[in-house]
This record gives sequence, structure tokens and C-alpha cells, in this order.
Amino acid sequence: MRVITTKTEMRDQVRGARGSGAAAVGLVPTMGYLHEGHLSLARRARSECDLVVMSIFVNPTQFGAQEDLESYPRDLERDVAMADQAGVDVVFHPSATEMYAPGHATWVDVEGLTDHLCGASRPGHFRGVTTVVSKLFAVCEPDRAYFGGKDAQQSLVIRRMALDLDQAVEVIVCATVREPDGLAMSSRNARLTSAERAQAPAMYRALLEAEGSIGDGERDPHVIRAAVIGRLADAPSASVDYVEVVSTSDLRPVDRIDGEVLLAAAIRFGATRLIDNLLVSPPD
Ligand code: PAJ
Repeated sequence: MRVITTKTEMRDQVRGARGSGAAAVGLVPTMGYLHEGHLSLARRARSECDLVVMSIFVNPTQFGAQEDLESYPRDLERDVAMADQAGVDVVFHPSATEMYAPGHATWVDVEGLTDHLCGASRPGHFRGVTTVVSKLFAVCEPDRAYFGGKDAQQSLVIRRMALDLDQAVEVIVCATVREPDGLAMSSRNARLTSAERAQAPAMYRALLEAEGSIGDGERDPHVIRAAVIGRLADAPSASVDYVEVVSTSDLRPVDRIDGEVLLAAAIRFGATRLIDNLLVSPPD
């Protein structure tokens, strides 16, 4: 497996592989500190593509001024070994100045879908995500790019962007990988204290209970929302950023649960903000 740090070399590598017969190039964009969630995307890419590229880049433009850019966990050596094990061919690990040349002034902004959920609580976040992912698409020229359902809004936003900007890449969204106690895997889980870690599965449990209530016939999103928030009161270190019941097409809050909805939550456990979601369809 190769580790490449410049855009020119990365582009040459992909074009060289295509010249030698690689028909399908897969890209797995990440910010590193890899876990099984990331690796599940890499394995899926391995099973479907001839060349698998994983980017590892903590993208500064998607972090707000008060957010955790500096303290975001990093361990390149460990990541490279894990990526290799998962069958990745090339790790692309540019520096911030390599990725963003001096004078960078162009941004990709997906409207509408980014108004809600994490878009509302992290202004500018998705602009950073869509800009860097567009640049990764331009450099790596993938046929397929793999994203996780844990970041449901991000996946929808990127799919919209690829469609709107005629980016010739198939956006593939894979299932959320969880710890045995249900907590969605996240690089940020490493920053939880042991007390916070013990409480963090409450988020998924609360979402599962909400799914159960919808299954039992509850159709009022306000009741569902209140139940999730009420359930989280059992976790003293939890503070709610948002809990929403939204439409899967435009991510707007629904008035009534008539069809498939996304139950989405962002909860702070101490200083660490975690997100999770469930897609729920009421029974007929
Ligand atoms: P990062 O948080 O490192 O996640 C990289 C990819 O892994 C994303 O597509 C994310 O949805 C997926 N992922 C994370 N946890 C997962 C889990 N438990 N199960 C399945 N997939 C999971 O998301 C980003 O980085 C960045 O915003 C990025 C897209 C790389 C742009 O900078």
C-alpha cells in the first residue's frame, strides 16, 4: 500500500492504474483515527473496485472556530496499518496547505438540505465538507465514493452535490457500524471520559425506543421528540443539541409520521458532540 501526500502524485497514481487496466476506482473519504465504521466502507470498496483510495485528511474548513479541529484525534501510523489490512491500495494524506493552495476562494454550497439538523447547529460545516469532497473527487477521479449512514445528512448532501454538479461518481451509502452496546462508532468516541462513554449508548437506546413507539402507532413527531429527550435525562452528562423527526427527502421536520422518516439526534456528552440516526417506516 502507498501513502501519497501530493495532489499531482495522487492524480498520476489513479491515471496510471487506469492505464494498466483498473476499470473502477473507489474512494473512501475520511478524517482518520480509523475504526470499524471506516473499515467497513473500505472493505465494501475493495469488493467492488479495482483501485481503492482512502483519503485521510482532517479538513479544517468544516470545523467552526469554537470546534475541535486542534484536538481532533489523529494517529496516521495506526491508520495506515489498518487501511492496509482492509485492502486499501493508496492512502491519500495531504497537508492542509497542499489541499488548499494559498488564495483558495471557491466554495461548494448545497442549499436547502443543509438548512436543518447539523447544518443549523454547525454553520458553515457542510460548505467545508462539500468543498473538500469536490476537491477529492477532482483529484482522485473515482467511479464510486463510499459514505456512512451514521452521517445521514452528509450522505444526502453529497449525493445532491454530485447530481447537481454532474460529478461522474456513484455515491454509495453504507450501514452504521456500532459497538456491542449500540453506540455508533465514531473517532470522537475516543474523547469520552469513562463515565461519558458509559452513558453514550443512551442516545441509540432512546432512538430505538422511539422507533418502537412509531411501530406501536404513535404518529405525532412532537411526542416522539419529547420521549427521546425525556429518555436522555437518565444520562446526566448528556445535553441535547437537537432531536428531530424529519422527512428523508428534504430533511424538514414532519408534522405527522405518515411515511419513512429519519429520527436524528446530536447530543453532547460532556465536551464531545456525537450524532446518530435511525430510518423508520411506520407499519402499513
Ligand atoms: P469521518 O468522520 O472520518 O467519516 C468518514 C466516513 O466514515 C463518513 O462517510 C462517515 O459517515 C463514515 N462513518 C463514520 N462512522 C461510521 C460508522 N459508525 N459506521 C459507518 N460509517 C461511518 O465524515 C467525515 O469524516 C468527513 O466529513 C469527510 C466526508 C471525510 C469530509 O472531510
